[in-house]
Amino acid sequence: MQLPDPAWCITQNSWEPAHQRHSETIFTIGNGYLSTRGVFEEGYPRESRATFLHGVFDDVPIVFTELANIPDWLELTILLDGEHYCLNMGEVLFFERSLDLRNGLLTRRVRWRSPQGNITLLEFERFASLADSHSTLLRVKITPENYSGTVEIHAGINGEADNEGYKHWEWLGQAAHNGSLWLHTRTRASQIELAAAARLSLKSQSDIQMESWNVHNHPTLVRRTALRAGESIEIEKVVVYYTSRDTSHPLDAARQHLAELPNPAWDSLWRPHQENWEKEWQTCDVEIEGDPEAQIAVRFSLFQLLIAAPRQDEHVSIGAKTLSGYGYRGHVFWDTEIFMLPFFTYTQPAIARNLLSYRYHNLDGARRKARANGFEGAQYPWESAATGDEVTPTWVPHFADRTKMVRIWTGDIEIHISAMICYALCQYWKATGDDHFILHRGAEIFFEVARFWASRAEWNKEHSRYEFHDVIGPDEYHDHVDNNAFTNAFARWTLQNAIRLYSWLTRNHPDIAATYCEKLHLMPAELQQWQDVAEKIYFPYDPQTGLIEQFDGYFQRRDVDLQALEPRSESIQSIFGIEGANLTQVLKQPDVLMLAYLLPELLDERSLQANYDYYTPRTDHTYGSSLGPSIQAIMACRLGKQEDAYEHFMRAARADLRDVRGNAGDGIHGASAGGVWQAVVFGFGGLHMDQHGWHIVPRLPSHWKRLKFHFTWRGHPYLIDLPNHGPFSSEAQDDSRVSL
Ligand code: BGC
Repeated sequence: MQLPDPAWCITQNSWEPAHQRHSETIFTIGNGYLSTRGVFEEGYPRESRATFLHGVFDDVPIVFTELANIPDWLELTILLDGEHYCLNMGEVLFFERSLDLRNGLLTRRVRWRSPQGNITLLEFERFASLADSHSTLLRVKITPENYSGTVEIHAGINGEADNEGYKHWEWLGQAAHNGSLWLHTRTRASQIELAAAARLSLKSQSDIQMESWNVHNHPTLVRRTALRAGESIEIEKVVVYYTSRDTSHPLDAARQHLAELPNPAWDSLWRPHQENWEKEWQTCDVEIEGDPEAQIAVRFSLFQLLIAAPRQDEHVSIGAKTLSGYGYRGHVFWDTEIFMLPFFTYTQPAIARNLLSYRYHNLDGARRKARANGFEGAQYPWESAATGDEVTPTWVPHFADRTKMVRIWTGDIEIHISAMICYALCQYWKATGDDHFILHRGAEIFFEVARFWASRAEWNKEHSRYEFHDVIGPDEYHDHVDNNAFTNAFARWTLQNAIRLYSWLTRNHPDIAATYCEKLHLMPAELQQWQDVAEKIYFPYDPQTGLIEQFDGYFQRRDVDLQALEPRSESIQSIFGIEGANLTQVLKQPDVLMLAYLLPELLDERSLQANYDYYTPRTDHTYGSSLGPSIQAIMACRLGKQEDAYEHFMRAARADLRDVRGNAGDGIHGASAGGVWQAVVFGFGGLHMDQHGWHIVPRLPSHWKRLKFHFTWRGHPYLIDLPNHGPFSSEAQDDSRVSL
């Protein structure tokens, strides 16, 4: 047996029911079409069993809509000489679970002594095919060690799947016969049909008895055979899914697809799956020598992004918790465009294009939101799902006292999201040179968002300037603030860039410019108004100190010495309460520094230093938002503070693997995973782009011996190899680049 490679495998050596939910998230597998949490085939109490398939949203109270947990493909009941295989009973003599990030194969080896004393070795494997995204496979090899007896397997598709108690599926039909089964269901409100077709195969030297149980909504295949001590059998379960989002006849498609798979299917599906994974890693792997923890954490982060990335579907996007848990119900935030998308833009632009297209297809939802709020153009929802309408819950139970309700304002007034989409579009355009996308999709988003900002701006007569009142910036500890610097700067940035885009269009593609003028009723007077608003937007910068005030009156709020509260294990919001935290200067996540990260041209070195020094000690780095640490790491890198940078980076890198906030059981922190890549590449690797192309100013942590990473610029793949020669100057090192 080969030992799992620690640079590529996440391994667990004991069964830990107390950390069940956390490890279910960590051992999630997926293929960009669906993901399945790392629950065990046999099922346990209090597990958070779920398979989520992109785009399968259904209505639900309070949070409007959520990804529906689809009928379960993993289920496998094993009876060993009449005893149920179940780790809660008998004794676990050996346990090892390992996720191989190279190929998404999840394995589990268990030696189990049953209550009657029978010892069995069980070796499980599963994967969701990356080459054939509709197919999922599991197999198990069973070897009785000290007894001879029967082995009985029940393998079903469970249509009773629910979302932690809430049921989304209604039954449409089923069958189970001749070694295969199918189940046809439909979501209750969104009416998305889903069909699952499954087959069970078993190789044994003894006779095999076969049965099919047509239990309502739970068709099941049964196999029974006899085994002698030391003899093994191998069972394979292959399940194919289709939905009415894929085809108008999902049941026919699923049955046909299953029928076309060889029996057994493992070997023929495994090879292309593995080859696809190899290709993926060739475009995006990051190698770190001299820091095994950072190495595996970075690969784990990239794996999480890759398994959530829609490859064939441009109508879906990656939710804040990817497809790995119930947290945030599959809703999509700015986490995607600002934290996750750069990884795709610079390594797999076709995926980035899909993710940006999702926003294009949901433009009407954003238009509806703007209209409903009395504005023009498009106001993207803070939380988005299938249609682009706002799906942020308005009220949720209080985190400390679930009998009380808390008003959530982000959906009403956290408005920077619309600019973030434009920012991501620009970044994609610069990196890829994909004019076609901007011409036919991006420009429309840009113009409509610019329109929104111009109509949302408020004229302050006294100061003769435009302002934005009653908003929430990135730092969500402070709500209902006026003139959040981040929001104001991005309103201006969007308006300016929309104007530039329009003039580029009129110069280079006058016919397309004319189409937009007609379609969107864009008039020169409106562009003039954008110009006027952009020029007069207030930006709270003090040239004396170089400081940017996060919002009006921020400096007057109570200053809290965060050091004095150490050691602590809760967020500042839990300690002071929602209102209490709002009255302090403590930040949940970088806000001014986030702005400095995204728009570096805004601040000179002196001002960057001043803002870093002011805001860093006032940020709740460990227990605030998981979006913060990677950005903080990059900004520390820019200022040459390597040790600080590394500390923040590791905070991001450990977010899920070490369950820093205690909520990894709800799903992967996708933004943190994307931020980890940015911290390595843009922070330590020092990659940056300007009008002349790309440059490298590496600043590796002193103990890293080497950093290697890939990126794509204007269609060319590059591999950057940075051996660590000790303290770096701000000049690029000559031996550091290899162009492919
Ligand atoms: C953060 C937001 C983020 C959201 C989803 C919140 O806690 O403050 O910035 O978009 O989580 O990850």
